[in-house]
Parts: sequence; C-alpha cells; structure tokens
Amino acid sequence: MPETITITDDRTGKTVTVPIEGGVFPSSALRELDPSLYCYDPAYLSTASCKSDITYLDGGAGILRYGGYPIEQLAEKSTYLEVAYLLLNGELPNSEQLSGWVDDVTHHTFIHENMRKRFVDGFHFSAHPMGMFISAVAALGTFYGGSKDVEDPEARNRQILRLIAKAPTIAAMCYRFSVGLPFNLPDNNLSYPANFLNMMWKVGDYEVDPRLERAMEVLFILHADHEQNCGTTAMRIIGSSHADPYSAAAGAAAALYGPLHGGANEAVIRMLTDIGSIENVPAFVESVKAGEGRLMGFGHRVYKNYDPRAVIIKKAAYDVFEVTGKNPLLDVALALEETALSDSYFIDRKLYPNVDFYSGLIYQALNFPKEMFTVLFAIPRMSGWLAHWQEHLNDPAQRISRPRQWYSGPDKRDYVALDNR
Ligand code: CMC
Repeated sequence: MPETITITDDRTGKTVTVPIEGGVFPSSALRELDPSLYCYDPAYLSTASCKSDITYLDGGAGILRYGGYPIEQLAEKSTYLEVAYLLLNGELPNSEQLSGWVDDVTHHTFIHENMRKRFVDGFHFSAHPMGMFISAVAALGTFYGGSKDVEDPEARNRQILRLIAKAPTIAAMCYRFSVGLPFNLPDNNLSYPANFLNMMWKVGDYEVDPRLERAMEVLFILHADHEQNCGTTAMRIIGSSHADPYSAAAGAAAALYGPLHGGANEAVIRMLTDIGSIENVPAFVESVKAGEGRLMGFGHRVYKNYDPRAVIIKKAAYDVFEVTGKNPLLDVALALEETALSDSYFIDRKLYPNVDFYSGLIYQALNFPKEMFTVLFAIPRMSGWLAHWQEHLNDPAQRISRPRQWYSGPDKRDYVALDNR
C-alpha cells in the first residue's frame, strides 16, 4: 500500500500527492494546490504543529515515554532531575553528567532578595499562589541581563538552569507568603523534592520523610512533560517570537492554570468534597450525564484509554496514605471511578481517569492546600516547557507561529455616525 495521500482541488482539477510519515502529511501540499488554501482546525484537533523527539504518547494504547523510556520505568527507577536532563538532552546522563547537572541545579536555587521583599510582598494576602507563581516567573527574567539572548546557546542553558532550580523556591515562597509564614531558604544538602518540601513545611524541627520525598519525586517525574498540550503549545508559540524564556514560561504556566488543564486537580478535590459521600455518587454521575457539569479528572484530548500516569499515581496514593493516613475522599473517588467506568456515557466517549483524578488526593494528604495543586504541577512541567522551547528554537522548520483565520465577519461597510446607530 503506498504511504502517500493524494488531494484533488475539484475547483481546478489540480492534484498533489505527498508522503504520509508516522501518520502525518505535510499541509504544505495544500499550498502547492493553491497558496491561499488553508485547513480549518479549531483547537488543533488534526494538526501536528511540530516535529519533536522529546515525548511519545499513544493515547489509544495508554502509552507515555520520555526519550523512548516508558514512564512506568522512569517513575520506578529514576529521579526528577535525571528525567529533566533526559528531556533537555535526549539521553539519560552518565554518572559524571548527572552529578554535574544536580550540582548546577542545586547551586542555582536561591532567588534575589528583592523578589521576596519587594515583589512577592506586594501581593494581596489572599492572592492565589498560582497567580503569584505566574507573575513571579515572568518577573524573575528581569533580574538577568542575558535572558533575552535566546539565540546564544550558552545564555539559553543558563536560563534553563535557573528556571528549573528556582521554580520550587518561587512556589514555596508564594505559599509561605499566602499563609503569613517566614520564607525558608533553600537547603543545598537536600534533594530537589526534599528541598522543596523543606522550604514548604519547615517550622522549627522538620525532617522530610523519605517515603514522602520519593512520592514527591514520582509526582514530579510524571508531570515533567506531556508533549504538545495547551501549556507547552503556549510556551512554543511565545518562544517562537524570541521572547525571553521567563515570559514564555509564565505564559505556559498561565495556560496550565485553567481548570480544563492543570487546574483540574484542584477542581477534582472541590468536586469530591461537594459529593461528600459514596451514597451521593450515583446522583452526581447522573447530573454529569445530564450536562450539569463535568466529571473533573476524567477525559483527555489524547488518551482514549486509562492515562498511564493515573495508574502510577493511584498506587503512589496508597504509599503516601501509609504515612499520612488515608484521605477520606479516597473512597468517594474510588466509587466515582467504578460508577463512571461501568456507565455507557463514559464508556462510549472513552472517558477514563486522567493524571489529575488521584493527584489531588495525594497533595491533600501531604497537607498542600488546594490552591497549591496547580503550582505543584507547574514546578516539574518547567523542564518539559524548556525542552520544547529549546527544541523549537533549534528547529530550522520553525518560524514565528502565526496561524491564519477563516474570516466570518461582515463585508466592507461604511462607518455610521454615533447618532445614526
Ligand atoms: N465529564 C463529562 N463528560 C465529558 C468529560 C468529563 N470530564 N470530558 C469530556 N466529556 C464529554 C463531552 O461532553 C463530549 O460529549 P458529547 O460528545 O456528547 O458532546 C465528549 O465527552 C468529548 O469531549 P470534548 O470536550 O470534545 O473533549 P476534549 O478533547 O475537547 O476535552 C478535556 C478534553 C480534558 C478538556 C475534557 O475531557 C474535560 O473537560 N475533562 C475534565 C477536566 C480535566 O480533567 N482536565 C485535565 C486534563 S489532563 C491534565 C492536563 O491536561 O492538564
């Protein structure tokens, strides 16, 4: 069978044949037919916006791999910083590369004092930590003269290092401000996730429980990248104008903030709390089917099968509950999952639990307030955003992102004076 597609423009009879590679054909074929012909693809359902080596996702089969490595193996055996290196460099580091990378990240965790004293202190006491995080990431770029040198690979690497190293510091700072606690400085003797937990929770004597440190590590690994999702696409689009990576990452984080994206974990806990108990699950599912709301943490644009990250997170939840005690909302979540997965509404639409369905339960058991959940997603996603930003800038096929539109407004008409409208 030929691996090609032939498109005929019936208006002119012109035909063009182009190759199909990996299920994709170049839409430049349309321009060959007629340079003013465009695909109408709202929400990019049928568009591959780039070529990428970073993450492989097969939504039908429930497969997720970073650099070819199955997510299950990375979650079991790797660390977040090793995964970040893999995303950015395409290969796992050897021991020398890993210790150099970990050392570099660890020694860039501090942020300028003005960020805390002048910038963060200016927020209203009830500011949402994710809103603070987004603004703080953008503001951070103003501290580094080289942040705009996006064409210089060395300057780029410095910004990548800073953003990955400082993301947990900013996140913890926003949280401590929001609860009125003094900020804890980074502790360079601790691992990436342990340092974050320490900055979050240290009041007097505090030692990070290694089981919770590992759970945080696993959650960071699972959230590190997910190919061309809404936030990553925002990162690539902003980066395509050669804006600095801090501004691009702030834009990506803003996209993540929405409840249909990374904000879903917060929405799941609100939903489970509203449901309250197992007896209320059937009525809630009926209300979703009647179109009165969505079952948050269910469904995915790409996964039409169980999200492999949800499988790992569900297991990690039990590991955390062994330390913290069971989250009382777990039983509601399990009943909800069981009810939905046996209901034809969800079966027919291939709606399964996604990464956000169980992550909020762990975060809540770890004492994080709901408002911090999306921030917890943004910290590790920083490495994915930056890997895509770098790949985009290095890709000779890419230029500034500038889609076209299908104009559907009025034809030319003459201006009407105010009195005559
Ligand atoms: N609950 C009830 N019905 C749903 C849901 C849901 N969670 N998700 C999709 N549907 C229905 C939808 O109403 C539609 O039905 P119909 O064909 O009768 O109109 C059908 O399934 C297809 O939905 P869609 O909105 O066209 O699908 P999409 O690919 O545009 O949306 C989604 C994907 C993730 C935005 C959506 O499934 C959703 O809103 N889920 C809840 C929010 C959520 O959990 N988001 C986290 C996503 S994973 C992490 C991340 O991306 O950050």
